[in-house]
Amino acid sequence: MGRTFPGAASRQSLPCPLRGVHSPTPIPATVMSRPTPYRYLMAFTFFLAASAFAEDAVYTASQSVRGEEAYQQYCAVCHGARLQGTPAAPLTGEAFRGRWEDGKHTLDDLYYIIRSLMPNNAPGSLSKAQYADIAAYILRINNYPAGEAELEPKPAAMKAVILQPH
Ligand code: HEC
Repeated sequence: MGRTFPGAASRQSLPCPLRGVHSPTPIPATVMSRPTPYRYLMAFTFFLAASAFAEDAVYTASQSVRGEEAYQQYCAVCHGARLQGTPAAPLTGEAFRGRWEDGKHTLDDLYYIIRSLMPNNAPGSLSKAQYADIAAYILRINNYPAGEAELEPKPAAMKAVILQPH
């Protein structure tokens, strides 16, 4: 039959020198008896808390207000006052999620289009800071959390932000 290591039987019978010292602390019954949905809720809450401090809290609330003004002035005519699109592409909602928030695009991909091609009728006509402000506004409308530091018009920083549904 199966091979047995010589001495295996005797090893098994040896008393554990740490017996009674390293026995695992029993998990309190109160934790074990919590219903599963509660545990999922706790996990989800921690996830939300963690994501609020994650690297996508990359603009400030006041920056997004500046961005809103610039957006309404330079972009809304084609992308809609609420970013809903018409006549141009929507910058929020289902279409935006499908096209940009697929986990494969970074904020820099989006910013690149904005700063180099938009407004479509006057590409590159705004300042870098204005483009960054507008990007911040687009993030806000798509439920990305505001943070402590402004979004700099620097591609390297924007590359670190993966666009994903919020
Ligand atoms: C004169 C109309 C016009 C203006 C003004 C304009 N856009 Fe566009 N935008 C377009 C068109 C046309 C496209 C190409 C895709 C499409 O047909 O919607 C586009 C595409 C985009 C895209 C890529 C959308 C996608 O999913 O492919 C973004 C992002 C964008 N614009 C942002 C802006 C921002 C920000 C501004 C303001 C700074 C702006 N646009 C101003 C017409 C415009």
